Amino acid sequence: MSGHGDPIPMEACKSGPLRGEAHVPGDKSISHRSLILGALAVGETRVTGLLEGQDVLDTGRAMRAFGAEMEKRGDTWHVHGVGVGGFAEPDRVIDCGNSGTGVRLIMGAMATAPIAATFTGDASLNSRPMARVTDPLALFGARAYGRSGGRLPMTILGARDPLPVRYATPVPSAQVKSAVLLAGLNAPGETVVIEREATRDHSERMLAGFGARIASEDGKEGRVITLQGRPELKPQTITVPRDPSSAAFPVCAALITEDSDVLVPNIGLNPTRAGLFTTLREMGADLTYENMRDEGGEPVADLRARFSPDLRGIEVPPERAASMIDEYPVLSAVAAFAQGRTHMPGVRELRVKESDRIDAMAVGLRAAGIAVDEGDDWWSVQGRGFGDVPGGVTVASRLDHRIAMSFLVMGLATEAPMRVDDGGPIATSFPIFETLMQGLGASIIRDTVPA
Ligand code: S3P
Repeated sequence: MSGHGDPIPMEACKSGPLRGEAHVPGDKSISHRSLILGALAVGETRVTGLLEGQDVLDTGRAMRAFGAEMEKRGDTWHVHGVGVGGFAEPDRVIDCGNSGTGVRLIMGAMATAPIAATFTGDASLNSRPMARVTDPLALFGARAYGRSGGRLPMTILGARDPLPVRYATPVPSAQVKSAVLLAGLNAPGETVVIEREATRDHSERMLAGFGARIASEDGKEGRVITLQGRPELKPQTITVPRDPSSAAFPVCAALITEDSDVLVPNIGLNPTRAGLFTTLREMGADLTYENMRDEGGEPVADLRARFSPDLRGIEVPPERAASMIDEYPVLSAVAAFAQGRTHMPGVRELRVKESDRIDAMAVGLRAAGIAVDEGDDWWSVQGRGFGDVPGGVTVASRLDHRIAMSFLVMGLATEAPMRVDDGGPIATSFPIFETLMQGLGASIIRDTVPA
């Protein structure tokens, strides 16, 4: 797992064609929520298709520490929940590893229970801002004692007599929204979250599925989400859809790798997640949606991506940012192979992900021969066109799975190989990345030469 093992240097070199089917793992956001909501329901929730990446496994371990039981039998995870307000006080520090989603959602879920818990993570997570979550949790009556700058390790004292909250999120963040909603579960009355820009809505959909009374309305102030506190959550049977954010990697690899034709089946196209695919199509990508259908109220399709040598740089609309926030690193790698400039405004949040993703990508892209401009909340990549991207460098993955995968995808089409100093973090979200990509024909290997 990231930050815990020896670094795993990896290398990608010119490949092609990529062919076949890419069965990517379960959705990370929905997997975290399945375990947390399962732990807050009364009775047994069953989950198949769970992402067994380190981030989600860390959330599972945390749920056990709060008193839920869970085990895997066959392909199914069985989660025995303790009910809303039923969390026990953990007798150990909760280590959420690399996962911002894990720690922020769990802080929300415990903040209105009369218990204390101490949270920590790896070097990446311990450098990320937590005040965005602890500020609204304080309104419920919870207290947070962390390091300066609101960083982990941090102890949260849950509110004994929680108050319901009305909160307008100052940053577009599904993690903040979800933390407030999960805290609102154990507050009496109505908790309201207002978001100016709609972010991924898995928490709202899943809370409704578990039987909470929750409603979303689009108004002048943005999206207003109202949750009635103290519901009894009913256990569910959940099939986790495949992750569009993981699908992005084989899709983008196929677009830039000569003669490729790859099918990525069963990908959720929830509009709050599918912005990358729209963007790629606007750039001229040969990316089609096959077998469009509805599953569990969510649009799902098989994605077919074919080599697209005539990509054009575009202006990515800032209002699309939330629906593709995790996909900018791999988009910037694809943009290197487009003709002209790809401009990406409205993305300040990229600076506080597992790494500063604008800086991490800009440094690596420049070293690989690509011009990048950046400001506080925007960046642009000057594409050189297919067949003209030098590559040939080793890039730091900075404990960030998506940085590592993005540069490895890029290396499939650069003139000289791309190396990352540590592919270990990939296991947090996409543990089968290497074998899946190799199965399609990609030359991605562990590099035995020290990086
Ligand atoms: C997530 C929300 C996003 C995203 C993260 C998963 C979630 O973070 O980057 O990978 O599951 O709620 P923010 O809410 O901080 O934008």
